[in-house]
Amino acid sequence: MKTLLSGIKPTGRPHLGNYLGMLKPCLDLSANPDFKSFLFIADYHALNFIQDKSLMKELIFEVALSYLALGLDPNKTMFYRQSDIPEIFELSLILDCVCPKGFMNRAHAYKAIVDKNIAEGREADDGVNMGLFNYPVLMAADILMFNVDCVPVGKDQVQHIEYTRDLAIKFNNIFGKTFKVPEPYLKDEVATLPGLDGRKMSKSYGNTIPLFETDNRIKKIINSIKTDCKGASEPKETEGNLIYMIYKELATEPQTQQFAEKFANGISYGEAKAELYQKFIEFFGPCREKYEELKQHPDDVFDILKEGANKVRPIAQEGIQIIRSKIGINR
Ligand code: TRP
Repeated sequence: MKTLLSGIKPTGRPHLGNYLGMLKPCLDLSANPDFKSFLFIADYHALNFIQDKSLMKELIFEVALSYLALGLDPNKTMFYRQSDIPEIFELSLILDCVCPKGFMNRAHAYKAIVDKNIAEGREADDGVNMGLFNYPVLMAADILMFNVDCVPVGKDQVQHIEYTRDLAIKFNNIFGKTFKVPEPYLKDEVATLPGLDGRKMSKSYGNTIPLFETDNRIKKIINSIKTDCKGASEPKETEGNLIYMIYKELATEPQTQQFAEKFANGISYGEAKAELYQKFIEFFGPCREKYEELKQHPDDVFDILKEGANKVRPIAQEGIQIIRSKIGINR
């Protein structure tokens, strides 16, 4: 039996990149009876930048609702809120004490902010709080708490998993073998699915396809995919073509082949986009209906998260006892 775990930061409605890069691999793996899976809402991870009570509440609900609508089955996957498992925060503090500070100085997300501050003439740590600086340690605690084998993540999170591995090894060296050293699980092709403008697909660039917008918005967004200026009937390359790349992720193999033939024979980009839109609506239609339905029943959503926490907390309580005994802090 293998254990997989991944976390979702509540930052807004999920988009196609989130679905293909993280959620779908998680759901596929958790359907495998050889896997035990944990998926949680990393609400405390969001606190370093979301500091508004009603927005925080709204984002947590939104993300829970979206993942349930997208097919997460709480009977197969343990689905919970990080904040419901206080042992994670205790472990985070323990890991702080084996984590060299210089190691954190080199974390991508933090370094990017420092570089930007310096380039723009501000103090290096301007706008950096300790929650942001310690983010990779908390993430290591999320993972190491549960003896995880693999962590499905997008490419941007790989460094965090390396930090987790290093911290597990450091702790094990000091206190004796305690933690399993996890592996990242990356779905290569998807990890490089670019955004609508060709840059990395990211909400901060505004180049994603959100999953739960109105039909009309989605049509508009798909129509905005950048293309070259080949004429309508000219043959077109599928290689590197974003319309084709997204279609391929949502369609069956024979459908994809047909679509590729149309490209070779010359389909206009307008028609190709219309076909992609149809495919998108067909693929996500049932999830979009479920989303609207669940939205009317917030209590059901919160009950599911509570039940998840009830299953997970005893595991964390047992785990933290072992860790405490390793470091000589027992009850
Ligand atoms: N940092 C991840 C992100 O921004 C979210 C996350 C928090 C996570 N804890 C985790 C992912 C543990 C995997 C495992 O997407």
